[in-house]
Amino acid sequence: RPILPFHGAHQTAVLGDPLPEATIVSFDLLVSNKAELTGLLRTLTEHVRALIGGGVPTPAGIAGTDGSGILGPSAPRHALEAILAFGPGVFTEKFGLADAKPRRLRPMDTFPNDQLDPAWCGGDLLLTLQGYERDVVTNALRDVCRATRGGMQIRWKQDGFTSSPKPAGHPRNLLGFKDGIAGPDTGNAAQVGELVWAGAGEPSWAAGGTYYVMRRIRMLVEFWDRVSTSEQERMFGRRKDSGAPLTGGGEESLPNYSNDPNGNAIPLDSHIRVANPRTPETANSQFLRRGYSYDAGVDAVGNLDMGLMFGGFNADLDRQFVAVQKRLVDEPLVDYITPVGGSYFFAPPGVRDTTDFYGSALL
Ligand code: HEM
Repeated sequence: RPILPFHGAHQTAVLGDPLPEATIVSFDLLVSNKAELTGLLRTLTEHVRALIGGGVPTPAGIAGTDGSGILGPSAPRHALEAILAFGPGVFTEKFGLADAKPRRLRPMDTFPNDQLDPAWCGGDLLLTLQGYERDVVTNALRDVCRATRGGMQIRWKQDGFTSSPKPAGHPRNLLGFKDGIAGPDTGNAAQVGELVWAGAGEPSWAAGGTYYVMRRIRMLVEFWDRVSTSEQERMFGRRKDSGAPLTGGGEESLPNYSNDPNGNAIPLDSHIRVANPRTPETANSQFLRRGYSYDAGVDAVGNLDMGLMFGGFNADLDRQFVAVQKRLVDEPLVDYITPVGGSYFFAPPGVRDTTDFYGSALL
């Protein structure tokens, strides 16, 4: 798909499908007052804008560097998109922003079956960079880090990727199932307005932003790979080959729960049926899922360390992600997945034009 423009009323990449190569980076702020925070966000905006718009980003005041990074001197327009989001640490007295906090923003809840490693949790800023080529994403991260050195510091970083359609349709996750099929229709303004963009009840600056949940969920793939396909399918409620619901049809067909009240086709405790029972009461708990697979090598005892950087965009964190996550506690899939990190963030509205910057309405 074509790369989305940087400027807009919303951060444009939120509604775009995940691209093949991504980096998800959480930073701790080192700035100590509102003026420094504003300066940092202006610098960050200038660099992301230049990286997405093409051309050579300004050299960040370092004598002797030309700003060309690792992509060579001409730096033509490279396919890149970015999403910036604020953690709860932005909304403190230090910055005079304690009263401006989005009402649901807080450190991430710990859910039953989570095994959270503090090294993979938290952060004041989350930057998601995505593109078609690994070196373009890496160059963007290095450019941003160089320009903001002293103002923020990496807390954790995970590279991610999505698969190409195999053989068609949505990309597959590392459990081998097509992922990202059901969810709000991003072309439907009313649905996106209700399920993605925050507004009602929030501080006025936050209108048009979105709660961005990021969870690092490890998959116990050695165990998963020994489970029969039919049992795997019953855990999800969809076919592994086509992605179709087990009540029939194709990948895009809706699961038919009214014809399957006892769960003979799609078990009552399957992932999709619990996550979205498709009742009138649960309709407004759906949110936009945007995940990336990750491969982090091998753990200390020789097991593959891989999983899903589970991302979700919500108009209301508690009504949506938290409600769905609570329903999913103790689903059969928990034997094969373990959340090990993550955080809640709030992605501010978009950067409108060349004079604007991330968070301008807040500051
Ligand atoms: C659907 C995988 C974690 C919420 C699905 C589907 C798959 C899947 C294969 C069916 C295809 C689709 O509609 O996209 C996974 C894996 C996970 C995971 C492998 C962890 C490693 C989560 C979490 C949540 C969640 C943490 C929310 C708290 C949903 C929802 C749907 C879904 C809402 C759509 C159900 C529907 O509308 O029919 N997931 N998921 N998933 N998942 Fe997950």
